[in-house]
Parts: sequence; C-alpha cells; structure tokens
Amino acid sequence: MKPTTPAFPKTPPNLFLTGFMGTGKSSLARILAERWKRPLLDTDYLIEQYVRMPVRNFFEKNGEAAFRDLERRCIEEWVPANNTIVACGGGLVIPDGMVELLKSKGITVCLFASVETILRRTAHTTHRPLLQAENPEERIRELLARREKIYMRAGAGILTDGRTFPEIADRIERIYLGELARRAKEAVA
Ligand code: S3P
Repeated sequence: MKPTTPAFPKTPPNLFLTGFMGTGKSSLARILAERWKRPLLDTDYLIEQYVRMPVRNFFEKNGEAAFRDLERRCIEEWVPANNTIVACGGGLVIPDGMVELLKSKGITVCLFASVETILRRTAHTTHRPLLQAENPEERIRELLARREKIYMRAGAGILTDGRTFPEIADRIERIYLGELARRAKEAVA
C-alpha cells in the first residue's frame, strides 16, 4: 500500500529519533522525511560539517565530552523550532537535561534493538568510535546497561527486531499522530 502524507498542522512539531547505535534512526528518519515531505537533519552530519572532520577523528582529538557539548548545541541552536525530522546520535540523549531539551523541542521516539541485531548492524563499520573495541559485543552490553534507564524515558519506545523499516515507520507515524491529537485536545481543554 502506498503511504499517504497525513494532514499535519501548519507548523508541525519536530520529530526526534533517538536510541542506541544501529537501531535504525538514520534510515527511518530518511523514510519519514520522504514520506511526510519534511526537512531531514542528522546530528552527526551537522557536527561533522561544523568541525570539518569525521566524528571518529573529533572523538580522538577532543574527547567525548567536547562531542556531547556540540550535540547539546546542535539541538539548542541548529535544529529549527519545528517541522524537521531529526536523527540523533546514539549518545545525544544521555547527558543530564537532554531528554527534557528534546521533549521541549518536539516529539521524541526511542528505537530499541537486541544486542545481536545491534552487533549485526554495526559490524563491518568503522566510523563509530565507541564501538572500536576488541570485544564490540561486550562494549555494546556495557553501554546499553549504562544508558538503558535514560533510553526508557527518552520517548515512546519501539522494539525494531523482526520488523521491516516500513513497518517501524508506520509505528512511528501512529505515535507521532497520537501525540499531535493529544496536544490538540490539551490545547482546547
Ligand atoms: C554515539 C553514536 C553515534 C555517534 C557517536 C557516538 C553514541 O551515532 O554520535 O559515534 O555515543 O552512541 P549513531 O547512533 O548514529 O551511530
């Protein structure tokens, strides 16, 4: 079935896709931006343009804390107030106050996947500094354990294992439209 573009308000809220590395944020953001005909941003890409080097090199040169500062700046200053689909780097939502910041600028959905799926999707890639470990599986488990609580409160959660991207996109669309309806109701109450 061909997807239809839902009727959105004139200035629809941003959609932020969050979640661990390899959960499909960038692919789904691309699908939804095309489907809804809305601008697409990727925080890693924005930062790479700003610092003029790949994320991995920036991590090596300046450390993770400097990268997190740029991620905050990216959301605070570079992401427009509405209408945009934003794929967030996997750790963006983790520092204190970032969940709240995202929620204040749009609707947030958090994607989840099993360690096996994450491992499969991120194997053979070298651009993620935090996964350049001797034992990537152990690193993924360790990071997930540390971050899990925050992901759980980072927005409506979707388990992506065993679902196709179009199916997950439908799910995100339903969550987004549901939240829009809830806000509209709240506004007239
Ligand atoms: C990171 C995730 C990456 C990127 C950086 C750090 C993380 O983005 O921002 O390597 O801390 O989880 P993706 O989730 O798009 O891979």
